Amino acid sequence: MFSMEFEEIIYKRRTIRRFRQDPISLEKLRKLIDFARVAPMARNIQGLEFIIVYNAEMKKKLFPLVNWAQSLPEDQRTPEKGREPTAYIIVLVNTKIKNAYVDFDVGAAVENILLGAVNFGIGSCWMGSINREKIRKLLEIPDHYDIKHVISLGYPDENSVIEPYKDSFNYWKDNNGQMHVPKRTLNSIIFKIF
Ligand SMILES: Cc1cc2nc3c(=O)[nH]c(=O)nc-3n(C[C@H](O)[C@H](O)[C@H](O)COP(=O)(O)O)c2cc1C
Repeated sequence: MFSMEFEEIIYKRRTIRRFRQDPISLEKLRKLIDFARVAPMARNIQGLEFIIVYNAEMKKKLFPLVNWAQSLPEDQRTPEKGREPTAYIIVLVNTKIKNAYVDFDVGAAVENILLGAVNFGIGSCWMGSINREKIRKLLEIPDHYDIKHVISLGYPDENSVIEPYKDSFNYWKDNNGQMHVPKRTLNSIIFKIF
């Protein structure tokens, strides 16, 4: 299978919120979850489980239950018609398996998915601002599952670049529709070297 250089994958990954409508195969979506499966987990207790949403009707119902790009002006936030995600992965914790100290597990698993997606040319948006109550009802998720996050996926239809942080963490969109994401410099985050 085609594989990019590891470093390229790390630096290339940017949050994508506009998508082309070519479908992602179920095989690829399953592979992304397989990347999550082998992520590090505290005490190796594996409570994470996942839902794949790629059926058109379900996607349509899920779309209004996630909130996009709170840092942008309201008219720039939500993907326009025809540029919505083409698939979603919902990240769950089965609390019968593990009910504490799971957030780091979620982070590690999600990052594996996001980097794996880059390798397939797929863009992603990790989403915490979601309507958990309505998602639970829609997807008929039992109460002993915690709904952590939604990962929105699709082949990218926007470009996003990093730029050095100056005085604001807010990401912004320029007139050409390109996203800019300020990132602190390497020197500024190395607190000490002994
Ligand atoms: C835990 C978490 C929750 C996030 N939730 C949302 C969200 O609800 N909606 C959204 O549009 N972006 C969300 N994001 C994406 C961030 O806005 C994005 O990662 C950040 O702006 C940096 O951009 P980058 O991913 O391109 O480096 C979330 C990211 C993380 C890590």
